[in-house]
Amino acid sequence: MKDNIALIGFMGSGKTTIGKILAKYLDMKFIDTDKMISAQEKKSIPEIFAEKGEQYFRQLEREIVLHESMNNNIVISTGGGVIIDNENIKNLKETSFVVYLDCTIECIYNRVKNSKSRPLLNVDDMFEKIKELHDKRQLLYEISCDFKVKIDVDSNMYDTAEKIKKA
Ligand code: S3P
Repeated sequence: MKDNIALIGFMGSGKTTIGKILAKYLDMKFIDTDKMISAQEKKSIPEIFAEKGEQYFRQLEREIVLHESMNNNIVISTGGGVIIDNENIKNLKETSFVVYLDCTIECIYNRVKNSKSRPLLNVDDMFEKIKELHDKRQLLYEISCDFKVKIDVDSNMYDTAEKIKKA
């Protein structure tokens, strides 16, 4: 049963901010998988990547997605890489109305360019890295979602949450 709403999309697309608003609008509980991983490990996401590696992080992410998607009536904000794992896609699709926040590359870059909390973007040419990862992942976001909402620099997060609520 699709009792939950899962937000997927690239880093910086607004999954956490919009998810919180949406949860309020719909009177649902909100959870953020990255926050849960951090709390469980008592470490920041960059610390987990640096000390234990990406594979370790992905394993925790898979466990949390599996566990949380068995809940009812929650809005799940996922990490941008959740869709690189088939098991996650399957679990989310079975249990949640999956919404893809399809944010333009320019908008993503503007939002994340000063961020230190995204280890995968911690490279010299961040814009190129975003483009490369985005190209690799876009199709996965598309095939994983039940509903897509476009986001650009002029988008308003309350309007976006409203569109998702209506859908
Ligand atoms: C990741 C996105 C991050 C976080 C981790 C890996 C990714 O979450 O899960 O740094 O692979 O895209 P946000 O999408 O919330 O930034």
